[in-house]
Amino acid sequence: MTILLTGAAGFIGSHLTEQLLAVGHQVIGLDNFDDQYDPYRKYDNIHAFAEHPRFELIKGDIRDQALVSDLLKRHACDTVVHLAARTGVRTSVTEPARCLDVNVNGTLSLLEAMRVTNVGRLVMASSSSVYGNSNNVPFREDDSANQPLSPYAMSKRSGELLAYTYHHLYGFDIACLRFFTVYGPRQRPEMAISRFTEQLINEQPITLFGDGTTARNYTYIHDTVMGILRAIYCLSGYNLLNVGGPTSVTLHELVQLIERAVGHKATIDWQPAQPGDVVLTCADLSLAAERIGYRPTVSIDEGINRFVRWYKQDLAKNETHI
Ligand SMILES: NC(=O)c1ccc[n+]([C@@H]2O[C@H](COP(=O)([O-])OP(=O)(O)OC[C@H]3O[C@@H](n4cnc5c(N)ncnc54)[C@H](O)[C@@H]3O)[C@@H](O)[C@H]2O)c1
Repeated sequence: MTILLTGAAGFIGSHLTEQLLAVGHQVIGLDNFDDQYDPYRKYDNIHAFAEHPRFELIKGDIRDQALVSDLLKRHACDTVVHLAARTGVRTSVTEPARCLDVNVNGTLSLLEAMRVTNVGRLVMASSSSVYGNSNNVPFREDDSANQPLSPYAMSKRSGELLAYTYHHLYGFDIACLRFFTVYGPRQRPEMAISRFTEQLINEQPITLFGDGTTARNYTYIHDTVMGILRAIYCLSGYNLLNVGGPTSVTLHELVQLIERAVGHKATIDWQPAQPGDVVLTCADLSLAAERIGYRPTVSIDEGINRFVRWYKQDLAKNETHI
């Protein structure tokens, strides 16, 4: 397959590219190296495969419809995986217009480019945040998802709805995958597991928001990538699917796991809960198991140990380069 992958230089995109290349596909990676976090980290993310003969990187924006149409045509792409986004719940509260422009207008522009070039296969990233503070636990794909608590959540739900319209009007095969907090090597630096690990290793206090009882379903990157791959192979009709990890853990439990992996206790700076944050995310994975055979395999204990091991190695590698 020849796959146009938006957001290829990001955390999930770079892992997915490695896997797609490993199993023999051609990847056209589109990324604008957005400044949500240090763009140099993204160059680092793709460093290992930048010269691969079946990989091409295009530095450009998903909102540039002419560019995307040209790429789809020129490379005869048959499938699009859309991961590019303005990520982050909290920054979406402070910069809502930017979030909606990339996540809604950008998705629309991509769908239009697909329509004019007759490419009708799309796997796209959605998010567990679309469930808001739902009382139906675990979250199921047929829950209403119409009370988003942040512009980011609203933009992700809008993307799903836009995708449905293109499925209805033009017969596109689309899978919208609702990811549940993904972690692992190269995780975005502002995300909790990365931040806590960095602060613990540097013996700095950890800032925790709320009272420690908020809980999240965490998904190890390997499982997320396998979920995307399975969705590509099983694409048919329109599907909303939860792609999450095996369990949910509280913030308290998460910090204890990182403390154990790093080898010492944290000093905690408690701060009030942040606007837009949800209390709990908890995934019902039965539909993804039935439709695409998705089953997460990495427990949170194992995943945190792997992450902290990688973090220390990466730190050591960077220190030897200074
Ligand atoms: N990481 C998670 O826990 C998580 C959870 C739920 C959903 N998601 C979704 O998964 C996707 C990937 O997330 P990630 O954690 O890898 O984030 P990331 O920020 O590391 O990757 C996103 C990439 O998209 C690129 N990008 C942003 N705007 C662009 C634009 N206009 N044109 C082209 N490229 C652009 C960025 O430069 C970045 O490299 C996103 O859609 C995100 O909303 C992630």
